[in-house]
Amino acid sequence: MRDTIRFWLGDEYIVLHDVLPSVTALDWLRETRGRTGTKEGCNEGDCGACAIIIVRRNACAGHLSWNAVNACIQFLPMLDGAQIYTVEDLRDPSGVLHPVQCAMVNQHGSQCGFCTPGFVMSMVAFRKRVGSMIDQVTDADIDDALAGNLCRCTGYAPIVRAMRQALVAGPDRFDAEIKKIGERLTMMESGEGVSIATKNARLTIPASADELAVTLMADPASRIVAGATDVGLWVTKLGRTLPHVVFIGHIPELRKITVTEDGATIGAAVTWSEAEAPLCAVYPEMRDTLRRVAARPVRNSATLCGNIANGSPIGDGPPLLIAADAELILRRGDKKRRIPLEGFFIDYGVQDRASDEFIEAVFVPVPKAGTMFRGYKISKRFDQDISAVMAGFSLIISDGIIRKACLAFGGMASTPKRAAAAEAALTGNPWDAAALAAARDAISQDFAPLSDLRATSWYRLEVARNLLTRFYVETTGSDTAQVSVWSIHGEAVNV
Ligand SMILES: Cc1cc2nc3c(=O)[nH]c(=O)nc-3n(C[C@H](O)[C@H](O)[C@H](O)COP(=O)(O)OP(=O)(O)OC[C@H]3O[C@@H](n4cnc5c(N)ncnc54)[C@H](O)[C@@H]3O)c2cc1C
Ligand code: FES
Ligand code: FES
Repeated sequence: MRDTIRFWLGDEYIVLHDVLPSVTALDWLRETRGRTGTKEGCNEGDCGACAIIIVRRNACAGHLSWNAVNACIQFLPMLDGAQIYTVEDLRDPSGVLHPVQCAMVNQHGSQCGFCTPGFVMSMVAFRKRVGSMIDQVTDADIDDALAGNLCRCTGYAPIVRAMRQALVAGPDRFDAEIKKIGERLTMMESGEGVSIATKNARLTIPASADELAVTLMADPASRIVAGATDVGLWVTKLGRTLPHVVFIGHIPELRKITVTEDGATIGAAVTWSEAEAPLCAVYPEMRDTLRRVAARPVRNSATLCGNIANGSPIGDGPPLLIAADAELILRRGDKKRRIPLEGFFIDYGVQDRASDEFIEAVFVPVPKAGTMFRGYKISKRFDQDISAVMAGFSLIISDGIIRKACLAFGGMASTPKRAAAAEAALTGNPWDAAALAAARDAISQDFAPLSDLRATSWYRLEVARNLLTRFYVETTGSDTAQVSVWSIHGEAVNV
């Protein structure tokens, strides 16, 4: 195993020994490389001021993928094997600004300038992702690309105008360097793992799923880290130390996505951004909800399986995937097992996973004939906000009768949980106003949610009922004047 991590930072080849596994890329860039253009705002992935670009070869398609990520919650060793760019790299060697920077100047996209480097990095990554498909870019795509960046003084309209201008501004310095960047990435592809032990901490980057299995069996107390968008905050906000970190983000078997006529298998190192296409291939109805999970720079690092493994009762993935009848594939040593996803969540902070076991993948089967599916996220902000209530609903209907109902909720209990009484009220009945009313009534038998800073117990129950009504209206095309929901004042109103 190698005892160094290595990557390209701009045009400099970096080789590091004695790396602490939980030092953040942001601290390292600012404190040891003087790259202070990368700003620290929130230090928790929310504001985008620290955005940098990571270039890697796409595991499935082989082309280069350019992703903006938040350096404040990327651990330095996660950069191993990548080409990294910060805002300092954007000007060409003769000093000419990058087309995105020119557009920000022309459109007056910056006032105090604190957020600007982060915006610019997200914009450069978006330009790369769009490539020549400029005609297909919608306003919603631009909003999505910028949703992880906060600006407190300029206002977003000039920044969006700058994005539009930059999209048609022609090539940048990197277009002429694609071959060179590809060669650099190839040069670092050694297929070997990394093991670094310092006085205070240990770092392992297994090269394969087999090596990961052996590492975990040997040290069950080690901490798996995939995208670090949950674990990163334990370090930056809670001050926790991690004695042995095992990074799984680059393990080839875990980076795999397989789509067959049976469904999609999404490996444990596949990010939310990468999982969008296969999930939507199976369930196009997930598209609107998936773009509400965090924001693009977080989704570029965060994994779907990390969201499941974290076991949060307010994670967005579990309700959607439980409603989709997903299964988890777990591995411990040489032994693999497959379980229905809903069985994974035992209690608050307790999941059906041994400490030396890991999630290898999640399988999402193709829906059965007659399935109606929806996902709904309720949060205070549209973008980049944790859910107050999250719902994944599916009904299988044949001959006009509901044969199977799955109503899965997040934010309603100590784990992601199905509404068993409401499901029973629907099963065996036609999907009509009477069934809806019975299911709405039954919700209070299923849940006694908490009140917290995101929502009160009363609000959560009412919103859960109202989401059932929305599901009914959307899937039956019912006249909205015929159904009522409860308003915040507690009286029935028509939707
Ligand atoms: C700004 C911000 C916004 C966010 N918004 C949302 C949101 O809207 N909705 C939402 O649901 N979440 C949100 N999150 C939380 C987080 O992004 C997700 O939970 C994410 O999917 C976690 O994935 P990860 O790869 O980063 O996990 P990590 O942080 O790497 O790991 C999380 C946990 O899972 C374990 N783990 C990871 N992979 C495996 C594996 N293969 N086997 C076993 N254990 C494993 C780790 O040990 C750790 O305990 C947000 C986070 C941030 C910072
Ligand atoms: S400093 Fe705010 S996202 Fe990193
Ligand atoms: S220009 Fe000041 S925060 Fe955006």
